[in-house]
Amino acid sequence: MPFRIAVLVSGEGSNLQALIDDLRDSEIEIAGVVSSREGARGLERAEAAGIETAVFSLADEPDRAKRDDALAGWLDEHEVDLVVLAGFMELLTPGFIRRFAGRIVNVHPALLPAFPGLGAIDQAIDHGVKVAGVTVHFVDEGVDSGPILLQEAFELPYHRDISAIHQHFHDVEHRLLPRAVRLIAAGRVSLDPDNPRLVRVDGDG
Ligand code: GRF
Repeated sequence: MPFRIAVLVSGEGSNLQALIDDLRDSEIEIAGVVSSREGARGLERAEAAGIETAVFSLADEPDRAKRDDALAGWLDEHEVDLVVLAGFMELLTPGFIRRFAGRIVNVHPALLPAFPGLGAIDQAIDHGVKVAGVTVHFVDEGVDSGPILLQEAFELPYHRDISAIHQHFHDVEHRLLPRAVRLIAAGRVSLDPDNPRLVRVDGDG
């Protein structure tokens, strides 16, 4: 039985593409791609890869709890082991988070806990940070506040080309997120019940 993931997107889906490319021919199956809005480019990427898609939008169901219940039902029907937020730009309700406790990860373009929330890359640039990075973390009920699984840091020298900086963050995301999914699927990641902030990765010391 392959390890089954669902990828949740809201827009471009470049992280989804990285997962599709990296996990092809692996023991990990992308069982479905869900978008929070119609017309997301990520849906096209999924369809091009022959992956089942669905849209659960607040435009169709403005009651967030009901929307998330329907989404959770879809994920259960698809027997998903792990929910991967890859550019999913909405908050999920506490009920949803509890239902999939320890089984949701998110990629965020900052060295958390610095710069949570929207616009993290621009905030880092505006702040003039010299070291930046990307985080993959488990999702809890806060905004980008869950236990950290992987981080990759890099120097951010002064640069006029903002789009090149953005691209660099995304390149790192595209490497880090598939690595995190592979580690979880291989059973190499565990949460410490005595210290819920700490994530243990087997083989990391
Ligand atoms: C990524 O930077 C992700 O970390 C952030 O939103 C962006 C989505 O990019 N949450 P994409 O849709 O994967 O191309």
